[in-house]
Amino acid sequence: MDPHYNHLPPKIPAPPTKKIGTGQAHSKIILMGEHAVVYDYPAIAMPFTAVQVEVKVHASHKPYTSIDCQYYRGPLEQIPEHLENLKTALHLAIESMRLKEIPLDIKIESTIPQERGMGSSAAVVVALIRAICDFYHVQISDYQLRLITNEAEVIAHQSTSGIDTLVTSSSNPIIYRKSQKPHSFKLDLDAFLIVADSGQAGRTSLAVNHVHELKKVKPHFVEQAMATIGRFVNQAYQAIRLGDRTELGRLMTYNHYYLNQLGISNQELDRIVNAAWLAGALGAKLTGGGLGGCVIALAEDQHHGEIISEAMMKAGASKAWLLNLSPVK
Ligand code: MEV
Repeated sequence: MDPHYNHLPPKIPAPPTKKIGTGQAHSKIILMGEHAVVYDYPAIAMPFTAVQVEVKVHASHKPYTSIDCQYYRGPLEQIPEHLENLKTALHLAIESMRLKEIPLDIKIESTIPQERGMGSSAAVVVALIRAICDFYHVQISDYQLRLITNEAEVIAHQSTSGIDTLVTSSSNPIIYRKSQKPHSFKLDLDAFLIVADSGQAGRTSLAVNHVHELKKVKPHFVEQAMATIGRFVNQAYQAIRLGDRTELGRLMTYNHYYLNQLGISNQELDRIVNAAWLAGALGAKLTGGGLGGCVIALAEDQHHGEIISEAMMKAGASKAWLLNLSPVK
């Protein structure tokens, strides 16, 4: 035997019976600071539990591991390129936790719309790793879970700040900066948030690349824009702490203006943002990667939230959710 492997613990075998492992994760919404967060400025994000993903894993009768999800059904080894992150995540989980590899049937059920800036790729990986851990009866630290998810995210999005991984595996809102320890906080604001799906697939990696290329051509402009967004995010965090929804709304709108200047918005998103403003929103902006995806708007109460949500639907949104930002006391 190779002497280097003498010290390794034995592999953890799979349970002998028909045990099913399950894992869940939710989606996320970036309140402020997307894209700037890639350049080490802060961003604020919150879990969005209205849409979730559940993964079930059990030992397969077939000689190979298979995946069954909305976009693909078949052997893991033949998974299409856009789902390669699942394969990577599974291999990393098995390797890093010294699990004994056996053929598995993996079923993924998700209500998170894909490519809407809601963190669906990170959420599905988080749920998959949790299901694998449940199946093998092993514990995983948050650190290890996020390490594996981030590796898989690099495959899905190339350049990633890690914010999707963090928020889809956490139950609290977070203010996050790449170079610093994330800080989670309690969000308790007398306001409602509308999340509207434009119905158009967003293209996070394209959008991140676009900003990267723009930075090569106009470095000063992009750096200024990112620094300004970073300042807005810090001010927004203070506004949340002070319960100042008007200030938060204003900052969200400013944030959208800068994202628009960076070329991350498009006509469809701007139309929905405008409709929210005209219907009396305290603020509105795109959320997530952009170039499609979702728009968020802030409303002072539920009634206004419903009016704004309707206006956003009329402006082209395919679906809207209304969230109370003040948890029930
Ligand atoms: C994507 O949800 C948010 C971006 O800032 C990319 C990232 O932070 O990885 C656009």
